[in-house]
Amino acid sequence: MQEKKKALMKLDDSFTVGEVDDRLFGSFIEHLGRAIYGGIYEPDHPQTDERGFRRDVIDLVKELQVPIIRYPGGNFVSGYDWEDGVGPREERPQKLDLAWRSVEPNSFGTNEFLDWLKEVDSSPMMAVNLGTRGIDAARNFVEYCNHEGGSYWSNMRKEHGYEQPHDIKTWCLGNEMDGPWQTGHKPAEDYGKLALQAGKAMKQVDPSIELVVCGSSNRQMPTFPEWEKTVLDHTYEFVDYISLHQYLGNQEDDLTNYLAQTEGVNDFIETVIAVCDYIKAKKDSSKEIHLSFDEWNVWFHSHEADQNQEPWQIAPPILEDVYTFEDALVVGLFLITLLKHADRVKIACLAQLVNVIAPIMTENGGACWKQTIYYPFAHASRYGRGTVLQTEINAPDYETEDYGSVSLVDGVAVREEQGITIFAVNRDQEDDLNFECRINNVSQIEVQEHLVLEHEDIKARNTKEKPDNVTPHNKGNAKVKEGKITAELPSLSWNVIRLTTD
Ligand code: AHR
Repeated sequence: MQEKKKALMKLDDSFTVGEVDDRLFGSFIEHLGRAIYGGIYEPDHPQTDERGFRRDVIDLVKELQVPIIRYPGGNFVSGYDWEDGVGPREERPQKLDLAWRSVEPNSFGTNEFLDWLKEVDSSPMMAVNLGTRGIDAARNFVEYCNHEGGSYWSNMRKEHGYEQPHDIKTWCLGNEMDGPWQTGHKPAEDYGKLALQAGKAMKQVDPSIELVVCGSSNRQMPTFPEWEKTVLDHTYEFVDYISLHQYLGNQEDDLTNYLAQTEGVNDFIETVIAVCDYIKAKKDSSKEIHLSFDEWNVWFHSHEADQNQEPWQIAPPILEDVYTFEDALVVGLFLITLLKHADRVKIACLAQLVNVIAPIMTENGGACWKQTIYYPFAHASRYGRGTVLQTEINAPDYETEDYGSVSLVDGVAVREEQGITIFAVNRDQEDDLNFECRINNVSQIEVQEHLVLEHEDIKARNTKEKPDNVTPHNKGNAKVKEGKITAELPSLSWNVIRLTTD
């Protein structure tokens, strides 16, 4: 009989990568499709509160423990007039949203979003429009949100019923300005200059804010990484983060390659770090720029259906990817990749949160449920906070078309006060793998739980009719023997091994 394949993970409790910033488990809500209208806000729904917030959705969001949520876009923000979304509802204009060819009723805006965030125990990451607008609208928006009072815009906020400033700390300087699809798209030079001036004015209003400048919309952009170099050359001393966006997908229905796509994400992150550090050296600066991976997910299932949508609807059902079990594995691999770079990636936003390429789906007037990708995100968000340990894995490789030889197992370990959690994905499509982990500098290890997400059908989905088709179980067989942790990682599985240590 052939011996089982083995994966060996080596850890040392005192060799660390860095602290996990809680904001690594952020998410994103855009005025897009049914993310807001019919997602988090639906005044006619039976489970809605007096402000129109769906309580059933709030419960599912809370379970994910999302500490920061980006808003209001996305491509939407590049044509958005923030003033349209504040003040008495009956006076708000209905406008065309050019990004998604929809009609925006503006019955939900900044103040409603900030009220809703309190319900889900989260905080805002606000984007300003640097597409059709610029410095003036951006600094006025900061004044409206953050200034104490006694000025035109801050007094307006008070008149709108918000006596206290919102104190929004994190601001994005536009969205995907490198993309030709973006309303008001600009070359790197122009964007760099505008972002610098807008950012300066915003910080003049409130010096305590932090700024995220736009990096590339994805790693395949022809201007990557020259874009980052030019933009940072202009803005380095005035911004705190540079953004990365990346969506993965199995368009070719090639699981071998699909499961390796996070290798590309790894490369993307490392290249952006290298560019940041090049500019740091060039400027002889003592400042280190961090990364904000503020859009990431799987997105491809809905592309075709979206072509057939009639334009100019309010809240059309677009970007409604129904995720499969294999997508959940890729989301797990993405989370592992982000955690491995916890020293530099300080913010990350799963895009998005409800209905639009989201872990949570709703039916207008009806139920809400968890998609397959909900589970790895919930696990990482709950158990992945602490300090990432340097993680060495020796496992057999497999061959992929786009990424060469790739390890059959990817994983990472996070130390928190009570113990260590190991996250690992077995990419092997045929076999279970024998996993072994040795941890130096710890004694008294016990396995608390071994959670597993697996399914015999890689295309299995959760739907309204079968919301629990893909769910994790805690019957993984991790155990400790002679100081070593051993476990079987089922073929194609996401594993969370929770250890208590002395
Ligand atoms: O998340 C969906 C869209 O993807 C966002 O609006 C945009 O920023 C990105 O291209």
